[in-house]
Amino acid sequence: MVKLNSILAHLAFAHLAVSIPTDYGTTTTSNKTLIGCLDAANVPLISASDADYAPAVMPFNLRLPFFPVVVVVPTTAEHVSSAVKCAGAFKTKVAARSGGHSYAAFGLGGADGSLMIDMKKFRDVIVDPNTFIATVGSGLRLGDVATRLYNDARRGLPHGTCPGVGIAGHALHGGFGYMSRMWGTTLDNIVEMEVVLANGDIVTASKSTNPDLYWALRGAGSSFGIVTNFKFTTYPAPGSGVRASWSWTLDDSASDTVEKKVKIFQALQDFSEESAPSNIVFGVFMTNGFIDVSCVYWGPRAEFDTLIAPLVASFPQDGLPTPTIADYPYIDLLVVLGGGEQLPQPENYTKHDTFFTKSIVAPTKLTTKSLTSFFTFLGERGVEPSLSWFVIADLYGGKYSNIAAQDPAGSSYAIRDSFFTFQLYSNIDGANPPVTAYPPWGFEYMNEMSRSITEPQPETKFQAYVNYVDPSLSPQEAHELYYGSNYQRLRELKGRYDPELLFWNPQAIGTS
Ligand SMILES: Cc1cc2nc3c(=O)[nH]c(=O)nc-3n(C[C@H](O)[C@H](O)[C@H](O)COP(=O)(O)OP(=O)(O)OC[C@H]3O[C@@H](n4cnc5c(N)ncnc54)[C@H](O)[C@@H]3O)c2cc1C
Ligand SMILES: *[C@@H]1O[C@H](CO)[C@@H](O)[C@H](O)[C@H]1NC(C)=O
Ligand SMILES: *[C@@H]1O[C@H](CO)[C@@H](O)[C@H](O)[C@H]1NC(C)=O
Repeated sequence: MVKLNSILAHLAFAHLAVSIPTDYGTTTTSNKTLIGCLDAANVPLISASDADYAPAVMPFNLRLPFFPVVVVVPTTAEHVSSAVKCAGAFKTKVAARSGGHSYAAFGLGGADGSLMIDMKKFRDVIVDPNTFIATVGSGLRLGDVATRLYNDARRGLPHGTCPGVGIAGHALHGGFGYMSRMWGTTLDNIVEMEVVLANGDIVTASKSTNPDLYWALRGAGSSFGIVTNFKFTTYPAPGSGVRASWSWTLDDSASDTVEKKVKIFQALQDFSEESAPSNIVFGVFMTNGFIDVSCVYWGPRAEFDTLIAPLVASFPQDGLPTPTIADYPYIDLLVVLGGGEQLPQPENYTKHDTFFTKSIVAPTKLTTKSLTSFFTFLGERGVEPSLSWFVIADLYGGKYSNIAAQDPAGSSYAIRDSFFTFQLYSNIDGANPPVTAYPPWGFEYMNEMSRSITEPQPETKFQAYVNYVDPSLSPQEAHELYYGSNYQRLRELKGRYDPELLFWNPQAIGTS
């Protein structure tokens, strides 16, 4: 989850000059070329020579511009099916894009030369008045979905905070937010999908229909098909929620700062393990000279005050900050958590960042040794000119978490036993106009930061979160970190559903 106040500050409208390859073929209604095949099937498309191509292929992460041979903008599942069949016939890799927020630009294929299927026209939301199951188009973004569920039916769904993130990439690979310890991840609430397979078949995947596919899509969706719409379980939206935060500004050169940060983090770990009910989520935001513990509690303020007192009492009392605490109606709190941005998103999305991110899924508490090493690294190496960074640790687990409570064999999503999930985010802050350049040393710097946590704790098997995809990992490393022992079955199913690896990105199932 991203601390948006800080992130949104540097997101801007891009006016980048991109150089576009021109040899990708032009529009002719003939079957002899990929574009001719698409045209013959009446699939709406944008080719490289069209004026709309440059904005259509602009990645969210400007560090990773990739150029598809053609962008398809389907309005029906049949269009998706025809596009997939044409790509198969012309041996062109396929990737779908929903919100385009992949950290590795995998929605563009993660390499040049793919056929990109832009799902932005799939925008329906229908809430069944009896079951409250919501049918949601795969081109919508989290802010759109939240708004529609709430306005139409006073319902909610667990998902991340940033309103611009796409529902499809998010839900197919996890989906964590402030309701997730109460309602599970977004993925846990998918009851059914309509999906286009590599052979062009349009099928349903649910617990009872194509259960293998249902298992694989929920965790590794991008490798198994193009989802056109989802059916999600929804929940009555809570009346209100409490947001609270404790922020310490600390001098990183002072001799007791590392110890103090360790104690703050340990107090939260200890409280979270046994005492955090499912209707609370904590996040710890860390950057130079700063550590902030914040939470959202879905319940009344008086209850929150009683619950939180023992945690506050266990923080270092010397210099204990005055907290910021406020309660908000449900939908207003989503806006606050999204950094104040309005929730509904434009169909043509124009925000960007230039960044590299790593993640660490910790199945147990971090040891004193690990935390000391990490905070020492931040104290000694935190100030790096021309690169901004922050680390966020989100509480996924603990005794009462409904993420951990789901059947681990029920989906290919493999970080069920996450206690805290860490996101280590680095970017070029505040560049206006935005830049594509990221310093080459930044990768190793972030890797060192990551190792400062994991290396002092070799007894723990750390994993990584596939929604925070790290393109610096080899396919093999990625598969091991994202899927662990589920990878073998994913690979077998890939052989069955997509033996030619048509649905591909550099870390797709089957590439190792
Ligand atoms: C600013 C920001 C904030 C974030 N906050 C959170 C957060 O709070 N919690 C959290 O858990 N994660 C968060 N994330 C990570 C986010 O969940 C992932 O980046 C997610 O995969 C993005 O989905 P998308 O549809 O926007 O991306 P895309 O780039 O469109 O897609 C991501 C992947 O899914 C595939 N895909 C997309 N659509 C389909 C489809 N219809 N069928 C099959 N495959 C498809 C793509 O090919 C690609 O491989 C955040 C990311 C950003 C950039
Ligand atoms: C060629 O085009 C026709 C329609 O004009 C279509 O039926 C056929 O499947 C196409 N061939 C390929 C290889 O896609
Ligand atoms: C989105 O952009 C395309 C051009 O790239 C334009 O044709 C279309 O009208 C835009 N849609 C909206 C809703 O603004």
